[in-house]
Amino acid sequence: MTSSRTLPDFPWDTLADHAAKARTHPGGVVDLSVGTPVDPVPRVIREALASVADQPGYPTTHGTPELRAAAVGALRRRHGLPELDPDAVLPTIGSKELVAWLPALLGLGPGDVVAIPELAYPTYEVGARLAGATPVRLADGEAPPEGTRLVWLNSPSNPTGRVLSAERMAEAVAAARAVGAVVASDECYLALPWSADPVSVLDPAVRGGGLDGVLAVHSLSKTSSLAGYRAGFVTGDPVLVKNLLEVRKHAGMIVPRPVQAAMTAALEDDEHVTAQRDRYRARREALLPALRAAGFAVDHSEAGLYLWSTRGEDAWETVGWLAERGILAAPGTFYGPAGGRHVRVALTATDERIAAAVERLTA
Ligand SMILES: Cc1ncc(COP(=O)(O)O)c(C=O)c1O
Repeated sequence: MTSSRTLPDFPWDTLADHAAKARTHPGGVVDLSVGTPVDPVPRVIREALASVADQPGYPTTHGTPELRAAAVGALRRRHGLPELDPDAVLPTIGSKELVAWLPALLGLGPGDVVAIPELAYPTYEVGARLAGATPVRLADGEAPPEGTRLVWLNSPSNPTGRVLSAERMAEAVAAARAVGAVVASDECYLALPWSADPVSVLDPAVRGGGLDGVLAVHSLSKTSSLAGYRAGFVTGDPVLVKNLLEVRKHAGMIVPRPVQAAMTAALEDDEHVTAQRDRYRARREALLPALRAAGFAVDHSEAGLYLWSTRGEDAWETVGWLAERGILAAPGTFYGPAGGRHVRVALTATDERIAAAVERLTA
């Protein structure tokens, strides 16, 4: 039986003392410990949400045809991907629920291995454990062991902001296929490139001619500031997506109809994505030199919403040092033992709060 006892502690709970310390700063806390959007939901999306608020019926698990077509269009326009089959698009209630349940939805269980990056978003491990499978962290370039049924990729990475090249992604896909594993590529930061160009697993340069065994997991939380709506989708191998759809229909894992309309509008409009990217770019350009001026080295961080930063000391010491200045960051250990000397500093704060952090770091 799976119970909460098989799951790791919820890591952010362990930050409580440092959060309390940071809140005592006279200028107020600058919370850069979580990647939650702070900018208002764009009007075009809010209007779409409201436009179907009177519809009383059950929504479809597969999503409206308009939503699926909009997802295919966005992937083509924004990421240069070949036209996908809209039937192979499946909306999800944000991407975290899919990450947490994918191993179970694929039928994985005891004895199966789920390979995750050495430094990784914690929910990959949670999903493996919920299914009773075994999570295994793979070092850079390490091949998945025998018994691996699912391999998670995440470029740009949370927490490191690292971008894998198309060649590196292709090698990872080939290695997963060689052991018969499904590759799930979590691409929620794909539209936030800074100094490197991330590539989707759906790019033919990565997956070759076919889509077999490949899933791309997308989120609208960051690029469209829709974390509160819970809006994501998965696409890729049509057979895998069809199987996921069947299970999710039975399990009631349905995106609410107003959110489906909101997602459609978000995926049809690129203007707000560009505006949001520009906001994050400006925050990054303010915070990155301030961290360096304060003696931090910032590793990777080529894309996405985090600055993977170190003062060459234990991560918790750095968390404490920042908390004394009223700034809250997440210790790298939240993402794996290899993160022991880094902190993850998020770009998701208002311009005013980022300016406050810059002032404190450079004082
Ligand atoms: C790597 C990664 N995957 C998935 C998610 C989940 O995003 P959401 O559930 O809002 O789509 C996050 C959120 O921070 C993330 O960093």
